[in-house]
Amino acid sequence: MSSVTTSNTSAAPKGLDGVVVASTAISHVFGNEGRLVYRGYDIGQLAGKTTFEEVCFLLWKGHLPNQVELDALRATMSAQRALPDAVLATIRAMPASADPMDNLRTGASAIGAALPISGTATFEQALALAARFPTIVAAFDRLRKGKEPVAPRADLGHAANYLYMLTGEIPPENHVKSLDTYLVLLADHSMNASTFTARVIASTESDICSAIVGGIGALKGPLHGGAPALVMDMLDAIGTADNIKPWIDQALDGHHKLMGFGHRVYKTTDPRAEILREMARQSSTPEFFALAHGTEEYALAELHRRKSDQKLYTNVEFYSAAVLSSVGLDRDLFPSTFAISRVAGWTAHVLEQMVGNRLIRPQSEYVGPLGLTFAPVSERA
Ligand code: ACO
Repeated sequence: MSSVTTSNTSAAPKGLDGVVVASTAISHVFGNEGRLVYRGYDIGQLAGKTTFEEVCFLLWKGHLPNQVELDALRATMSAQRALPDAVLATIRAMPASADPMDNLRTGASAIGAALPISGTATFEQALALAARFPTIVAAFDRLRKGKEPVAPRADLGHAANYLYMLTGEIPPENHVKSLDTYLVLLADHSMNASTFTARVIASTESDICSAIVGGIGALKGPLHGGAPALVMDMLDAIGTADNIKPWIDQALDGHHKLMGFGHRVYKTTDPRAEILREMARQSSTPEFFALAHGTEEYALAELHRRKSDQKLYTNVEFYSAAVLSSVGLDRDLFPSTFAISRVAGWTAHVLEQMVGNRLIRPQSEYVGPLGLTFAPVSERA
């Protein structure tokens, strides 16, 4: 038996670090400058000034909507929030103990079957999916708490209606504003893992729903969208200001990663983290914010001291946790809420991928054995 490495091309860096896999006009991360741009607009221009619906239009269509376009989009989205009976039945069949991301992945897939969604991706299909994501998440959250789902209200915006469907009550204006800003901030982020996943699936000429279901699966992991609940767990474990130093020291001495820090592309502060920090300062209790901020400052100092070559900074997930908590969301709903936002970007990328599509099919470097001789099972040791 021989064992060789076969490759007729040079292997890309592990994790495709630094590899450009697509051209896109949707968004870009300027990692060294700490800039995020959606279709030409710096994120700071949009956050707090636009609604999620406006940003959906921007990502899907390439320009900010005028009033007529925005009114039409809002009307169409709000008219499509209700779930087909088959989808609601699927959610009702879910065990109450299910991870909300498993529910969202399954519910989104059921929408694809129920509507149905097939053929070449369209703007209408993108909208049909984005409109229903909050309803899937809220219906499951109600059912697992022993309550009936709350029907969507067409007179509320996307963020307000999501909160309304969770509680059955009209949410306070400051909660709506915080959540809407969060949804704007998270809507797209260049070639992140879940977007790449969605584009790979779309490139096979599969349907947009399949691509989005794949994106949900990729987002679920703690190295991507699963981090903010773990940030809250970390802050709970730290508990008090005098425990920040010993807790962080012990975690880093044990070679554990600190949730909410580090990023593949940003080598300086993530602009979304800066905006979310200020939102958290306004919306959290002073005690909680002091603990979070104290943890951030000490963690950054230690990460810079111990890993000075790595340029580790606060990422979007650290203060997402505080902001989503402050609007009343359970921490296990954070990743699904991230997906409620990111579905806008995923679907925009699928639509873009379909223009001049070419199958994404990279190669691998084979490092296994060669030349083995087959033996039937009866002759194997
Ligand atoms: N805490 C401690 N050390 C870290 C951290 C962290 N949060 N992030 C990176 N490092 C260190 C690694 O230990 C490694 O050090 P070493 O070279 O001495 O072994 C070095 O920095 C490089 O780390 P990688 O994991 O290779 O960096 P990569 O670019 O692959 O990872 C990632 C980026 C996954 C975000 C990473 O920083 C991480 O795991 N962070 C914690 C989880 C997290 O916050 N996830 C949310 C990401 S944001 C988002 O997806 C929306």
